[in-house]
Amino acid sequence: MTANSLMESDRAHWIHPVASWRDHEERGPTILGSGKGSWLTDIEGRTLLDGFAGLWCVNIGYGQESVVEAAAEQMRLLPYATGYFHYGSEPAIQLAERAPGDLDHVYFSLGGSDAVDSAIRLIRYYYNVTGRPEKKHMIALHRGYHGSSTIGSGLTGLPAFHAHFDTPTPLQHHISCPYPYRSEAADDAAIIAASVAELKAKVAEIGQDKVAAFFTEPMVGSGGVIVPPKGWLTAMQQACRELDILFIVDEVITGFGRTGPLFACEHEGLTPDLLTVAKGLTSGYVPMGAVFLSDRIYRAIADNTPPGVAVGHGMTYSGHPVSAAVALEVLRLYEEGGLLANGQKSGAYLATKLPGLLDHPLVGDVRSLGLLAGVELVTDKQAKTRPAADLNLPGHLARIGYDNGLIFRAFGDGIVGFAPPLCITEDEIDIMIERFVKSLDDLLTIKEIRDAIG
Ligand SMILES: Cc1ncc(COP(=O)(O)O)c(C=O)c1O
Repeated sequence: MTANSLMESDRAHWIHPVASWRDHEERGPTILGSGKGSWLTDIEGRTLLDGFAGLWCVNIGYGQESVVEAAAEQMRLLPYATGYFHYGSEPAIQLAERAPGDLDHVYFSLGGSDAVDSAIRLIRYYYNVTGRPEKKHMIALHRGYHGSSTIGSGLTGLPAFHAHFDTPTPLQHHISCPYPYRSEAADDAAIIAASVAELKAKVAEIGQDKVAAFFTEPMVGSGGVIVPPKGWLTAMQQACRELDILFIVDEVITGFGRTGPLFACEHEGLTPDLLTVAKGLTSGYVPMGAVFLSDRIYRAIADNTPPGVAVGHGMTYSGHPVSAAVALEVLRLYEEGGLLANGQKSGAYLATKLPGLLDHPLVGDVRSLGLLAGVELVTDKQAKTRPAADLNLPGHLARIGYDNGLIFRAFGDGIVGFAPPLCITEDEIDIMIERFVKSLDDLLTIKEIRDAIG
């Protein structure tokens, strides 16, 4: 097919995720053709540095032949084996065995949204079979993201995922996200104390005996790459214990080396009651996600369901052998292949480069953890003014970045996200920063944006 006919077919038929359908009909798709390492080539032959690893998922980078081989070999041997009716396959079992720390039971999903949805269903089941059916309410963060399933979208704290979808449900609640750049609290300890107090107040308002769980990402991803102060996660876990509610950490973005260690929870040495993952588990080469359960939750469900009675939760592709074979090879590349170590090294290098961006008239804040970074653009540094929506700054910036050979995430409120593959080198990080600064400068050639700067 020619580029033009691909464009037309896409506009006519493909409903793209989280897109303005009308805008998409008008602009059509940006069509990518191939990738190698941290680089992509579009179908017009333009080379781009992928500063966002696809959708913060291609952590191993593109073109890893050993992963392609692992998938092909598994497809030849056994392309599908169900997990239903007590069947299994070797790669799925080997992968299940790799469950982290004390979270030694795993349910495999197809991605992050259904990992979160599985967690919600299993938590409901857990409280129902352990004699506390009134514990149904769940709390999460404003700006948090937990996918777009029918119920999970209500835990997500972003308005676009609620509007016209009838979420959050009356059983879903949100508290403020810890946001150092925009917080009025005096210091990190005060930010942490405010979150703990707000969680406790929310639980008291609902009634402690009615609250099931608190869901959080270790750092906010899709809500604007916001890094809470160190110790925040631990304090929230401690509060959940005191309140007798489950503590669920959603590591769909932060898992698999994105912030440095294999899991972001390791920064604080903690183990949640349930942990959700996806993306970096297979590095986006094939779909797969998972929800890990602590032994306590698993045993309570198992022992309170009579023998012979099925726990009615399942999906045809849960524990898919090809996805599992890919995940095993991806894990090998992170560990034995040195990608985790390279990500840590490059993440530390990126952290030294980010503060230089603050010299730019549009940059109000920079923050990062490993290879997950946020740059917050403002039109008035003193007042921390977000760019007015009618400037369409994110739209202009994404287009200009692309023209300069760089892909990043330009969020609607002027925050820019970076999450390059863990294989990125220091030289490539220099290119990423150079192209980003050039793109910011190019933004200032637009009169309305230049005029808006205070
Ligand atoms: C923290 C978090 N949870 C859940 C999801 C949903 O995952 P998926 O898009 O694979 O359904 C995402 C996706 O970005 C995410 O960032």
